[in-house]
Amino acid sequence: MDFRKLIERALAAREYSYSPYSHFRVGAALLCQDGSVYTGCNIENRAYGPTNCAERTAFFKAVSEGKREFAAIAIVGGEDELVWCYPCGVCRQVMAEFCNGEEFKIICAKSADEYRIFSLNELLPEMF
Ligand code: THU
Repeated sequence: MDFRKLIERALAAREYSYSPYSHFRVGAALLCQDGSVYTGCNIENRAYGPTNCAERTAFFKAVSEGKREFAAIAIVGGEDELVWCYPCGVCRQVMAEFCNGEEFKIICAKSADEYRIFSLNELLPEMF
């Protein structure tokens, strides 16, 4: 699957964002090595702490259905307009649990045409 299509899946997932507290709406689309895609959105909570990021929603959906091998994740986020949205430290650590630092690609996008690609190693150097 090309990155454009993966970004479009992330944009669609963002529509389901439950973010009444921050109003910052995030969508993610996780590409598995077998070609399947799991999407996620951020899900906030009135107690704040239980909030789950879009990236972890996608990962936990995938892992809970037996997937363990991942190729890339596309991430889109912002309030009204999309901004460059990079994964938080907790989500980077979750990626590190399942993904190869050199090979796994993190695609941060503002649209299907405007995106930046990082390896996990770049965003989480010297990972645990
Ligand atoms: N958030 C994500 O879902 N992913 C990110 O990469 C950054 C932050 C969410 C968490 C919270 O619901 C809102 O964005 C504001 O931090």
